[in-house]
Amino acid sequence: MNNFTFYSPTEFVFGRDTEQQVGALALKYGAQKVMIVYGGGSVVRSGLLDRVKQSLDAAGLPHCELGGIQPNPVDSKVYEGIDLCRREGADMLLPVGGGSVIDTAKAIAAGVPYEGDFWDFFVGKAKVERALKVAVVLTIPAAGSEGSGNAVITRMETLQKLGLCAPFKLRPVFSILNPALTCTLPPAQTAAGIADMMAHIMERYFTNTPQVEISDRLCEGTLKAIIAEAPKVMANPNDYEARANIMWSGMVAHNGTCGVGREEDWSSHALEHEISAIYDVTHGAGLSVIFPAWMTWMVTHNMGKLVQFAVRVWDVPQPSSEASDAELQAVAQEGILRLKQFFRSLDLPTTFAELGIPHPDIDRMTESLRRNKGELLGNYVKLTMEQCKEIYRLAEE
Ligand code: NZQ
Ligand code: ZN
Repeated sequence: MNNFTFYSPTEFVFGRDTEQQVGALALKYGAQKVMIVYGGGSVVRSGLLDRVKQSLDAAGLPHCELGGIQPNPVDSKVYEGIDLCRREGADMLLPVGGGSVIDTAKAIAAGVPYEGDFWDFFVGKAKVERALKVAVVLTIPAAGSEGSGNAVITRMETLQKLGLCAPFKLRPVFSILNPALTCTLPPAQTAAGIADMMAHIMERYFTNTPQVEISDRLCEGTLKAIIAEAPKVMANPNDYEARANIMWSGMVAHNGTCGVGREEDWSSHALEHEISAIYDVTHGAGLSVIFPAWMTWMVTHNMGKLVQFAVRVWDVPQPSSEASDAELQAVAQEGILRLKQFFRSLDLPTTFAELGIPHPDIDRMTESLRRNKGELLGNYVKLTMEQCKEIYRLAEE
């Protein structure tokens, strides 16, 4: 196991009606004025936004708001939010929504006290030294932003979708997770969220770091829980207990617990971010296309962990200790097949065509990838840009 530090100071408040505590919690964490951030209207329609405001009012906390954050959030809303927040003098950001809303709020939180352009943080020109506090009311389990110090924003002018990682500055001070709030999710968003949280685990799982049994088992156990609970939420969107298990899995998948002490990969995410930047598809649906393709490529390049994945996560029979390479490959392939079948059972796409992109511009995506990430991508195998093209091509099949 590698050396590591792990710092995860978020207070999670989980369960029915917990959004009613938002005002008291904001006071507890020192807020004097709160800026609520939300998306395209689901929280208005469900009445959640009103309940959040009532709770802030009851705590005597003034608030302002920024709505209209779109999925795959863009820089223009961050600039708008930074201006508004400065004008209003808010000192706590309160995203009420999913990853897109939370990430916009985090970028605003970092941008307000910074004199330069907030985009500097995303291109590595500056480090987040100070940020306003961020607190979350989560409505979709997917991106894991409720427990992470990350934010992902797209710059419209250049169509660059980039991430910022500032765990010591941008982890939410508290996150409210009420599974009942997720019952209104459209099935496609529920499914995409499930693919995304599985991907967050798999990006960590596929590693060359030896002797990481504890995090391997955490990854495998969380994946198995998701695989068991997902069909239940798809069959019955109001199944509170299944929603609760999925919601906490999304947090566990991405707050870092599953990745400590091991080198993580993250190439599938980088490959996907090019797709959602250019074609504006749902991130999780892009991942259900890319991750199996990445794994298929890995069968002939670094098979070891794929066999373990097949056996421990998908219950493929353990090969004998004398198994030939061909036999091991068959086990790995069976694991990938079962992952794809699982995605299909959730109505998720597993090819570009199914994602609605019959003719993906692979050269364009790879050029953008090179601009954003350099010549080599990932860690499980350090991929050249030519190899990235091969993976994109596999995702066409
Ligand atoms: O905008 P509204 O009207 O609220 O509708 C949203 C949106 O259309 C809807 N929705 C959310 N909660 C709902 C609901 N509809 C009905 N009932 C509810 N309870 O769902 C749609 C998707 O919302 P979004 O916030 O985009 O979802 P998600 O949480 O999947 O976030 C995706 C974004 O997060 C980034 C992705 O790249 C993408 O931009 N990521 C962020 C990460 C991070 N910060 O750590 C890591 C991830 O890997 C990911 O890259
Ligand atoms: Zn993701």
